[in-house]
Amino acid sequence: MIRSRILGVGKYLPEKRVTNFDLAKMFNTSDEWIRKRTGIVERRFAEEGVYCSDLALEASKEALKNAGMKAEDLDFIIFATLSPDHLFPGNGCYLQPKMGLSEIGCMDIRNQCSGFVYSLATADAFVKTGMYKRILVVGAEVHSSGLNFTDEGRDVAVIFGDGAGAVIVGPSDDPSRGILSNHLHADGSFADILHLIMFDISKKPCLTHEMLDQGCLWPKMKGKEVFRVAVTKIPEVIQEALKANDLKVEDVDLFIPHQANLRINQFAAAALGVPEEKFYSNIQRYGNTTAASLPIALCEALDEGLIKEGSIVVFVAFGAGFTWGATVMRW
Ligand code: UT7
Repeated sequence: MIRSRILGVGKYLPEKRVTNFDLAKMFNTSDEWIRKRTGIVERRFAEEGVYCSDLALEASKEALKNAGMKAEDLDFIIFATLSPDHLFPGNGCYLQPKMGLSEIGCMDIRNQCSGFVYSLATADAFVKTGMYKRILVVGAEVHSSGLNFTDEGRDVAVIFGDGAGAVIVGPSDDPSRGILSNHLHADGSFADILHLIMFDISKKPCLTHEMLDQGCLWPKMKGKEVFRVAVTKIPEVIQEALKANDLKVEDVDLFIPHQANLRINQFAAAALGVPEEKFYSNIQRYGNTTAASLPIALCEALDEGLIKEGSIVVFVAFGAGFTWGATVMRW
C-alpha cells in the first residue's frame, strides 16, 4: 500500500505583535484575565491590505523550499481557512496564481479549527489512491479583520490571531513512515455554539443593514460549552486513533494539539495521563490561529528538535461545528 508523508513544512506569522496589554487599551480586559483563562500572552495581526492568501503564499513557499521542491512540482492545492479573502471563489484559487501556477486543481476545506486535520486526511487519501503525488496543504487565517474589539466581543477577540502554516504531502519511499491513520468527526447539533452568521441565505437579500446593526459580522461563541465538549472529545479521539494503530499513550513521542486554549490542552493531557511537555504548546505567542495552528506548531516542534525520524506524532484538533479529529504519523 502507498503511504503518504509530510515532505516539507513552512509557516508565516505577520510581524505585528499584539499583546494582551494592547487589547486592554481597546476594551475592558486584562493581561491577567487572558493569561489565566487561555495561556495567551500575545498574537500576531496582519496589516491592512493583507489577504489570507498572502499569508498562505509565504508559508507555502517555505514548505516548498523545505521539501526541496518548486511550485511547478505541485499537482494539487488544499486550502483550509475560516477567514477566506472573499466568500467565493475559494482561497485555493486566489493562492494558485500568486504561486505562479495555473491548471492544477484547488479546493478549500471549511472546517474551522479542525480544518487542517480534515485537509491532511483528504491529501492522504488522494496520495494513497495515486491520484496526486505532490499536494500543498495550507492552513491560513486573517482573524484580525473580523473580530469585535469592544466589550461585547471581548470573549472571542482575545483568543484569535493571524498566521499560516503549510505542508507538502506526497508518497513515502519508506512504507513504515508517514500518515498511519486519520479520524474525523463532527456533531452539527452544536453548530450555533460557535458560529459567524455574516449573512443568511434564506433572507432576500441575504444581508441587510439591520443584520449588520445587530452584529451579524462578529463571531458568537458560548465559550464554556466549547470548553466542556473539547476536553471530552480530544482525549476520546486520541484514544480512538491510538487504538486503531495498536499504540499506547506512552508510545507517542509528541502530541501536537490545536492551540485554542492552553487550559483545554492541559485538561486533555491530564485526562490521558500524558506529561504536559509531551503536549506541544505555542499558544502563548500566537493565540488561536485556527486552521493554521497545527502546521505552525509542527514547524516549531521540528525546529526545537522534538521530532526525529521514526517519532510517533499525533495531531488533534477540535472546533466549531463541532468538528474534531486526529492524525497519527510516524515521522
Ligand atoms: O477552537 C475553538 C475555539 N474556541 C475555544 O476553544 C473556546 C473555549 N472556551 C474558552 O476558551 C473559554 O470559555 C474563554 C476563555 C473564552 C472564556 O473563559 P471562561 O472561563 O469560560 O469565562 P466566561 O465566558 O464564563 O466569563 C467569565 C467572566 C464573565 O463575567 P461575569 O459574567 O462573571 O461578570 C465574562 O463577561 O469573564 C468575563 N469575560 C472577560 N473578562 C475580561 C469574558 N471575556 C473577557 C475578557 N476579559 N476578554
